[in-house]
Amino acid sequence: MLVSLNPLLQKAFCGKFAVPAFNVNSMEMVQAVFSAAEKAKSPVIIGVSPSALEYSADLLPSIVFAHAKRFSKIPFALHLDHGKNFDDCKKAVSLGFSSVMIDASIDYEKKDFLGKHPARKFSENVARTKKVVALARSKGISVEGEIGTLGGIEDATNSSVHLTDPEEAKKFVEETGIDALAIAIGTSHGAYKFSGNPKLKLEIIKQTRKLLPKMPLVLHGASSVPKPIVEQCKKFGLQISSEAQGVPVSEIKKAISFGICKINIDTDARLAFMGALLQKAHDYQGQIDLREYFGAGRTALEKLYGQKIKDFGSANKA
Ligand code: G3H
Ligand code: 13P
Ligand code: ZN
Repeated sequence: MLVSLNPLLQKAFCGKFAVPAFNVNSMEMVQAVFSAAEKAKSPVIIGVSPSALEYSADLLPSIVFAHAKRFSKIPFALHLDHGKNFDDCKKAVSLGFSSVMIDASIDYEKKDFLGKHPARKFSENVARTKKVVALARSKGISVEGEIGTLGGIEDATNSSVHLTDPEEAKKFVEETGIDALAIAIGTSHGAYKFSGNPKLKLEIIKQTRKLLPKMPLVLHGASSVPKPIVEQCKKFGLQISSEAQGVPVSEIKKAISFGICKINIDTDARLAFMGALLQKAHDYQGQIDLREYFGAGRTALEKLYGQKIKDFGSANKA
């Protein structure tokens, strides 16, 4: 059953768990999400980035809706992840998404001399986010906004990360009317999140929660980069440095207990899929039945998603 973020996150908020938001790029990923969610009776958010949408020639929503019919007991949101501008969000709305993220905290249209996107001014972030809220509101579509920036794809000009200022977050929510707020607490996208101790700035969640007691908070860049998966990838030929480090599950659990109720995962899925695919290519030498490879990837994803659902506490919450 397709729903917006609101019923999913309200339930998570009250039940002290988090709904996983899994980014998908292909049919196999969609199937793995639904099948893991059904097995665990978990609500789920299917994240599609603008570039994933483009890669699928805009067909990912149809693939999702076709599968949703077979998994009708699972409440899910189809969510645009990191919409860069109003047009990305408008397009998602026209394609049937039930939720959009407008990521106006950074300027995707500009790059500095290092090739990084600069952070946007607070007032500009507010204005752009408000415009998307106005579009979505009348259609019952939820909007996620972001305050602060992460590392990785969101690297900003002057420093690589701008952590969320709770006071600014409160102002942002009041001025925009968003349904969910992504906060920056020290995570980043990708497989290299920490060079030292992998600790989150949990104090920021606590303070933000105090000022915004009813606002669902979102954690991006939350992959754990599990060692066994990294080892499998390495063993079968993926070049990944031993510096790869994600967010420990123990930190994720603390973040949930402090009030995070949507958690975005992409990198771990990429790693799990690649590990399985590379191993298959090694074990199944000389064979070219592509379904063997994509099928192995899909099985690995199902397992990974099942584990995330357990870790985030969303099992049996559908
Ligand atoms: O947070 C970003 C996601 O990992 C999406 O990345 O634009 O390569 O699909 P993508
Ligand atoms: P990871 O790169 O840690 O999986 O984060 C994904 C994400 O935040 C998607 O929006
Ligand atoms: Zn993200």
